[in-house]
Amino acid sequence: MTRPLPAAILFSGTGSNLVAIASKVASGQLPLDLRLAASDRADAPGIARAAGFGIPTAAFPTRDYPSRAAHEQALGDAIDAAGARLVILAGYLRIFEPGFVARYAGRLINLHPSLLPAYPGLHTHERALAAGETMHGSSIHFVTSELDGGPLIAQARVAVRAGDTPDTLGARVRAAEHVLYPAVLEWYARGWLTLVGDVVHLHGLPLAAPVSTVGQDP
Ligand code: GRF
Repeated sequence: MTRPLPAAILFSGTGSNLVAIASKVASGQLPLDLRLAASDRADAPGIARAAGFGIPTAAFPTRDYPSRAAHEQALGDAIDAAGARLVILAGYLRIFEPGFVARYAGRLINLHPSLLPAYPGLHTHERALAAGETMHGSSIHFVTSELDGGPLIAQARVAVRAGDTPDTLGARVRAAEHVLYPAVLEWYARGWLTLVGDVVHLHGLPLAAPVSTVGQDP
């Protein structure tokens, strides 16, 4: 049996991915030891949801710190004090300074709601619909200092339907994320997924292209 990997999860909002991940951990299907759930927003609904799973929670409002660097230093210190070896970004809406990214090189994984490199940044569902895309989805990647530009691990592809709105499309993207993100984290927790330089390796071999799935419609 794999010894659970100590991890921290960071979020800013509702935390539906946090719930998907914590549920898999609670049911023994994902060998992570969630030691800290941290948010940059004291009012993030995800805090109560994390507490409901018995995960220690903490809020780090940016206004409590004199600079971005000080904020990220405090966050990193809490992550390290918790003994976390992996940092999971699940809807964490802040961009890190290079110092934080370097501190967690190869141990910082993000989820972004588009098929990167398409649509980095915000409002991805709106932008994909406005552009008339037929496929949209979500990407999981190691974080580097380039915004939404780190090495891709996996992508969940979701077909755009006639009449989709950002909300309906976004709901299907989220449902696909709830399946794919725990799976990718399991690969990491079991030591199958690594970052070597800036190349993603799975089972010791460089990944030629991100693992791609087609999301199941809920
Ligand atoms: C997800 O769609 C994720 O791709 C993006 O933010 C959203 C977070 O949703 N980074 P939730 O808070 O997990 O519900």
